[in-house]
Amino acid sequence: MKGLILSGGAGTRLRPITHTSAKQLVPIANRPILFYGIDDMAAAGITEVGIVISPATGHEIRDAVGDGSTFGVSVTYITQDEPLGLAHCVQIAHDFLGDDDFVMYLGDNMLEQGLAGFVAQFEDTRTAANTPQLGEAPTVSPAAQILLAEVDDPTSFGVAELNEADQVIRLVEKPSNPPSNLALVGVYLFDKTIHEAVAAIEPSPRGELEITDAIQRLIDDGHTVVHDVLSGWWIDTGKKDPLLECNRLVLDSLEQRIDGAVDADSIVEGRVVVEGGATVINSTIRGPAVIGAGSVIDHSHIGPYSSVGIDCRITRSEIDNSVVLRRSVITDIPRLTDSLIGRDTEVERDQRRPRATRLMIGDHCHIGIE
Ligand code: TTP
Repeated sequence: MKGLILSGGAGTRLRPITHTSAKQLVPIANRPILFYGIDDMAAAGITEVGIVISPATGHEIRDAVGDGSTFGVSVTYITQDEPLGLAHCVQIAHDFLGDDDFVMYLGDNMLEQGLAGFVAQFEDTRTAANTPQLGEAPTVSPAAQILLAEVDDPTSFGVAELNEADQVIRLVEKPSNPPSNLALVGVYLFDKTIHEAVAAIEPSPRGELEITDAIQRLIDDGHTVVHDVLSGWWIDTGKKDPLLECNRLVLDSLEQRIDGAVDADSIVEGRVVVEGGATVINSTIRGPAVIGAGSVIDHSHIGPYSSVGIDCRITRSEIDNSVVLRRSVITDIPRLTDSLIGRDTEVERDQRRPRATRLMIGDHCHIGIE
């Protein structure tokens, strides 16, 4: 079994962050989202992982992940010249995948339950089908296994329709009239049959080779597609609010660890990590929260569900439910909440007259002034 992680894409929903960097490297609890996916692959016993990257952000992903040895896997990079769809990723990864079974994982997704059980289930079903027991009816070996989750609004997902026998009979991408509330989670298991299906489909109206169309093709060609329903949470972090929610969920499992310097005038409460080299001066840190190495928190309040990246400086400010990326500076801001702050960014109270909001911001930003 090989692994294929998709870390290209356009990332339009996470602009402006994705103007300058890969969304899969945005940190959740100060660790890139992508790293959790690679960990999950390793935990599922997968050692050969292909990572699809884009020409724009691929170098950054290569720098962060390297050859994969720190994760216990061997990584092959596959450059996708344009984001032409999830099934297009399978197509360009064909040389790497060969005829092997593989698990495909969206690099900006996170799921609580990990991959090991899901992968083992596919392998067991296929082994059982290929080794029929005496006296038992033969079972059909599945060509694919999909993971489904119940969602409130299926219109923005790939959606599965099941029959009375609980079998997948139809998949539709972002339906205006959804056949169920079961959305496709960003994890798929395939055998080599998927390559024929991908070769047989045409781009969708939005110009992408859709993985839902390829799986539908498997079904139409008489192959078996099995499914599992997700236990635990699953988040597509491709937008700000789900990303902050994911950060909350991961921070909730933190253990307190104070390696940095916290002075006697500061209060640290709950599940808080202060990394080595970080300094907390006359401040309150109320967990769950993480303060990255080299950051200085000075006369400030860092409230629950905040992740402050490395080498940040937060002075006379209050922050909660936010992710602050590396080397950012926040000064004299009485209350910053529900925010995603990019790298090397300055947010400060402007003392000049006339009193006004003065901005120097990039394209596709969202600013919410109190
Ligand atoms: P999406 O989030 O569905 O697409 P996107 O990254 O283009 O984002 P947006 O819709 O905001 O413009 O992609 C899911 C994952 O798959 C994500 O990690 C990016 C990756 N991907 C590719 O690697 N190649 C592709 O062609 C596409 C569409 C996505």
